[in-house]
Amino acid sequence: MTVTGLLGEIADVGRDPRRGGYSRHGFSSVESSLREWFAEAAARRDLDVHTDRNGNIWAWWGRPEPDAVITGSHLDSVPGGGAFDGPLGVTSALAAVDVLRASGFQPARPLALVVFTEEEGGRFGVPCLGSRLMSGSLDADAARRLSDPDGITLAEAAASMGLDPAGLGTDEAALAGIGCFVELHVEQGRLMDRLPGTPSVAVASSILAHGRWRFTITGTGNHAGTTEVADRRDPMLPAAAAVLAARRALGSRESARATVGRLLPTPGGTNVIASAVDFWLDARAPDGPEARAVVAEVEAAAREAAAEEGCELTVREESYGGAVHFDSVLRDRLAAELGGPGGPVPVLPTGAGHDAGILAARVPTAMLFVRNPTGISHAPAEHAEPADCTAGTDALARVLESLCR
Ligand code: GLV
Ligand code: MN
Ligand code: MN
Repeated sequence: MTVTGLLGEIADVGRDPRRGGYSRHGFSSVESSLREWFAEAAARRDLDVHTDRNGNIWAWWGRPEPDAVITGSHLDSVPGGGAFDGPLGVTSALAAVDVLRASGFQPARPLALVVFTEEEGGRFGVPCLGSRLMSGSLDADAARRLSDPDGITLAEAAASMGLDPAGLGTDEAALAGIGCFVELHVEQGRLMDRLPGTPSVAVASSILAHGRWRFTITGTGNHAGTTEVADRRDPMLPAAAAVLAARRALGSRESARATVGRLLPTPGGTNVIASAVDFWLDARAPDGPEARAVVAEVEAAAREAAAEEGCELTVREESYGGAVHFDSVLRDRLAAELGGPGGPVPVLPTGAGHDAGILAARVPTAMLFVRNPTGISHAPAEHAEPADCTAGTDALARVLESLCR
């Protein structure tokens, strides 16, 4: 089946009528439907499907043996996300199997498709949960204690899906079996679209260092109509100062990013001065020190404004990962093999995080990008043209064929 046909099969799963787009959070009933859909699609292709102890789903073409070539992505989304971030990599992997089968290809190396769980961190706050747990970059006890906005812990959510929470954590056996991992993903910017010839496919070079920090500012809850200015301890003011500082911090840092995309006043009444405000800073930069300098600048602004307003501030790091530089041998091999008479396909960096970035610390890893004509992502308008998606599938099939020879 074509990649667009496969995307069509899940087009109605997890639509979010309020936000638009899709809300497909990890360990939810929506994600479970998608996981079942994947397992059935893989089984129809005679792939052997199993779920590992961190909730990642594997579908094997051939016996699970060492030095396997692995491809896949994720099916969960941000709140109100697009149709392509994650699912394009999963559907392209299934479609690439169809392309290879139709050509009569038999892999000499074992080949498996993988769906990683909770890549966006949309529910438990930590991105790339499945690949972090598996690769040991997230402590299993800390992970079990993570809780969602309703207070449900990851341990509880995992148990409700039939996973043993005690089994969460580093999976050296699974890692030892991976010869290499290739993730196909929609591009989440416009680098490809701005290149001459607007190529359909590119290869990834690197990912920005990236972390998430939770700021909690406490003040005094009070009446919006009766509280005089001198009596106000309003945590919304230092929160606003921090949001502005996040933008200011980017002024002299061309490649850094700082975003406050989520802000939660307590109790959250129109006619109530909040007693507390929580907000999350997503900061990224070409290297860790620069990302941390951005955070320090925002924190300093929040602290100064909190002191002026008589509020208290606490800051907690919820996740962090250093910059990723993909395996140069695999990167150059893929770029050359997918190139034509004009040379290799483009090799481009990204600011978006991926399971491939987590696995890169443990196994040779590469990524293929499919052109995104608007660059919009993490939003309902995210788009990739069908012809580019097909070109991505064909590229992935060629890469898998070459790696599995
Ligand atoms: C995930 O897509 C991220 O970059 O936050
Ligand atoms: Mn994403
Ligand atoms: Mn993604």
